[in-house]
Amino acid sequence: MFHSRSTSFLKPGFCGLKIGLLSLMLVFLAACGSSGSDNTAPADDTPPTQDGGEDTGADDADTSGQGDDAGSTDTAGSDGDGSTTGTATGSDSGTDDTGNGSTDSGSSDPVSSEITADRVLDPLPNPPLTAAPGADSEPVRALGPVSNVTEFFVVRNPTRDLEDDYGILTDEDFAAGPLPAVYHIPEHVDTSTNSLPYFDNLTDVEVFAGEELTVIFKPLDDDGGIPGLFPNAIPAGARYVDNFNGTRSLIWRPLQPQVGIQEFTITATDPVEPYYRTERTIRIKVKMPSDPSGIVNIAPVVNEIWPRTVRVNDFVTLYIKVSDANGTIPSLEIANPPAGATIVPHYSEEAISILRFVPQTAEAIDLELTARDAEDTSLSTSRTVTLEVLEDSDFIRPGSRLRELAASRDLLIGYAALQGFYEQPDGALYADIAAEEFNFVTTENSLKWDLVNPLPGKYRWAQADNLVQHAKTRRQAVHGHTLVWHRQLPGWIKRSALDEREGHMREFIDRVITRYGDDIPIWDVVNEALEEDGSFRQSTWYEAMGADFIDIAFRQARLSAPEAVLLYNEYDVSFAGPKSDGLIALMTALTDAGTPVDGVGFQMHLDADFDRYEEVAATFGKIAALDLDIYITELDVSIRSGMSEEQQAEVYEEVLSLCLDQPRCKAYQAWGFTDMYSWRREFNPLLLDRRYQPKPAYFAIQERLGQN
Ligand code: G3I
Repeated sequence: MFHSRSTSFLKPGFCGLKIGLLSLMLVFLAACGSSGSDNTAPADDTPPTQDGGEDTGADDADTSGQGDDAGSTDTAGSDGDGSTTGTATGSDSGTDDTGNGSTDSGSSDPVSSEITADRVLDPLPNPPLTAAPGADSEPVRALGPVSNVTEFFVVRNPTRDLEDDYGILTDEDFAAGPLPAVYHIPEHVDTSTNSLPYFDNLTDVEVFAGEELTVIFKPLDDDGGIPGLFPNAIPAGARYVDNFNGTRSLIWRPLQPQVGIQEFTITATDPVEPYYRTERTIRIKVKMPSDPSGIVNIAPVVNEIWPRTVRVNDFVTLYIKVSDANGTIPSLEIANPPAGATIVPHYSEEAISILRFVPQTAEAIDLELTARDAEDTSLSTSRTVTLEVLEDSDFIRPGSRLRELAASRDLLIGYAALQGFYEQPDGALYADIAAEEFNFVTTENSLKWDLVNPLPGKYRWAQADNLVQHAKTRRQAVHGHTLVWHRQLPGWIKRSALDEREGHMREFIDRVITRYGDDIPIWDVVNEALEEDGSFRQSTWYEAMGADFIDIAFRQARLSAPEAVLLYNEYDVSFAGPKSDGLIALMTALTDAGTPVDGVGFQMHLDADFDRYEEVAATFGKIAALDLDIYITELDVSIRSGMSEEQQAEVYEEVLSLCLDQPRCKAYQAWGFTDMYSWRREFNPLLLDRRYQPKPAYFAIQERLGQN
């Protein structure tokens, strides 16, 4: 009767058994460590977070800092992980997700925790597993007011028609009846004395669009006690409420765009053993009523647009998106367009209009925007968008530019560039300041797999092409991020056959690297292969190749880019702890195996109260002793409650000193540079504020770079 059985929980007595190249760290720690997330009991309704840190529960998009609802529009694919990016209380947490969205990630299989030495790669698959990038994947010239950055020719992706329609359910799927439950049974649970939680009377349902649906979830446990409950994802517009009697309800009024078969997954957790679980997926068939005129018409909206600071005489390009829950496209009215403004439709998104103008004087502009219903013109909603226009002189930063100071030390000083920065209202200012201050730039998102290769044989290069072109113009070295990661993978890769993943991985590495050639001389080849406890992460790649995926990825990267610097990039490894130990063990194993790795990228997402500098110096020393370079790749310093900008400045300065004091440290790079755009925007973790004004941290590193 059991549909699946989890095997990822540690057996008692496991600690003495592990042997293998990385056993001392990677495996032993996995088995014996006490800080792994699997040991963290989830609160009722709360899925466990990977690091036990606070989880805002916010959708990735809300915390990514990638602009507002219509900002960077020329994208394809999506973050298919379905995981959340929370905010960790830990000091250097790059990501908080659980890998592939599973609730039961666990320790590595010890047998495959070895890295094969001196591997010789087979030729790339021939014929290729997927079509090589063709003419239909080439970016096209951007016509019209797409960009406000004028010094290079901006391209855009050919189309946005790369939706992954895998998994769209049909009436036949619904008719086949409810899906079986999925059970998660930790090995240590005695099922003869502890019975599984289950759901009372839960089944598939049907509803007409416009009608309100209530589904009650009543978890039961025959041993007594009330099981916990947590939903996987809540449909847009739905509410998931606590009835304060052990049950929860999903209350949802689906509308026209939801017509079809929808799924909702919910998990009941045992009152005693929270990882002892029953997961149910119900299907909701949303039907169109014979008379749709009865469906309530909700007023349309202008999507959120963050306030921006812009500069006199720059082109300001504002992407304005309107939307209506019923799927129709509202009209947009701009009550007070700035003098000389043009408004044109977006080249492929009907719901987006592009407003473009050149502000002539310093002032505050409050744009009054209204979305009006396509069917009932009496229905509308308005939004005010504020743009602060400042003089060029308002952005002058005293002293020398950071890149001038760094160049005399042969140091790369960098930032991660916002994907599609040139489409933002403040894009020209962003581009200018970044180029003035930094000689090094990383592709924050624009080379991630789900964006670049959302479907087999289909490539979307425009964001990366534009960034590379911009960097060349501004004499910045480009750092490619990231070739092999467990996140931001397209669905087709996660669904691919295990025995073909190596081929897909190698093809992707080769195609991306060869497209950019010498224009990208430094690559993050593998990102975040380790868990918090120093064990290997159970990932799309690990499950197919074991730890060897790391070696294979580096060898392919070396074949494709013989001259490039190849990095392993990781978070939570700069200071002491099991994960740092795991890193040293991994890098030792790789160098012993002859893997062509040149250095380690230390992410360093820190908090402003960080003070473990001696530990960082020691870790840097261990990496240097392995004859590897050190790149600080993703530094940011969050100001959390009770912390100050001065503390933040000190952390930036101390980390810079550690880098300057370590001859193998080649780069000091922040994960962005203005608090306007940061994945941790709410904690203002960067060098300039949201108005592009330098903060104490900027002056601290400027001063430190100027010292001997
Ligand atoms: O591409 C989609 C787009 O199609 C969609 O319209 C838009 C709005 O929902 O979302 C876009 O994807 C977002 C992407 O940023 C680009 O904006 C994702 O939802 C969002 O999850 C993603 O967040 C990024 C995150 O990695 C994802 O894991 C952050 O911006 C980025 O700063 C962060 O960077 C990582 C490094 O790569 C690795 N180290 C940790 C670091 C921080 O998490």
